[in-house]
Amino acid sequence: MDLSEIRQTYETKGLDLPDLSPNPTTQFQIWYEEVTEAGYLEPNAMVLSTTTPDGGPRARIVLLKTFNDDGFCFFTNLTSDKASDLATTANASLTFPWISLRRQVNIFGRSKQLTSEEVDAYWVTRPRGSQIGAWASNQSSVIPNREYLDNRFQFEEERWEGQPIERPDYWGGFRVIPERFEFWQGRTNRLHDRLCYRRIENDWIIERLSP
Ligand SMILES: Cc1cc2nc3c(=O)[nH]c(=O)nc-3n(C[C@H](O)[C@H](O)[C@H](O)COP(=O)(O)O)c2cc1C
Repeated sequence: MDLSEIRQTYETKGLDLPDLSPNPTTQFQIWYEEVTEAGYLEPNAMVLSTTTPDGGPRARIVLLKTFNDDGFCFFTNLTSDKASDLATTANASLTFPWISLRRQVNIFGRSKQLTSEEVDAYWVTRPRGSQIGAWASNQSSVIPNREYLDNRFQFEEERWEGQPIERPDYWGGFRVIPERFEFWQGRTNRLHDRLCYRRIENDWIIERLSP
């Protein structure tokens, strides 16, 4: 299939340095709220990229659950490929592909496992079905078929019937502590705006990149 003739014109207001908050997390929040108001489906879905133990790239979508000046947090199974990648190389990048608004945010940083207190606080807010699912799935391992998974779920559902579901100790999360942010706004003639924040000690400097 040849997709080379598919093109969109990006007529947007653009992004300039005076428009930006000096704090990249505040700027992220401003964009996040605009994207949410625009009705974007799952604006907190982000591409998490990690490095495999042999140095290769690996990417997948996860959901951002909290963010503030300390970092950007998501939850996952600690036996998964992403968790083992981050245990070897803490470097991670997060990409928000907010395409219908002609926007992309990239965040580059180092990841740190969340404390059990932080994970517990989120665990209790999860729907029961998701909690059972966490017990039923040994994420990223090979399984024989779908039936195996459904049986595992049923087994766990019966095991926990009538009682609160404990958090498995292999279920946790990570905080990505940003070193760099890039805010990308699509413009006409492919002259897009790219504004980058770089952390210098406790300060952020903002630079414009060529599209
Ligand atoms: C919209 C969407 C949201 C997802 N959210 C999460 C999430 O928050 N945590 C998670 O572990 N996996 C999530 N996944 C599944 C991951 O993309 C991935 O398949 C899984 O985590 C295993 O990845 P790994 O083998 O690279 O560790 C999500 C997938 C999609 C499409």
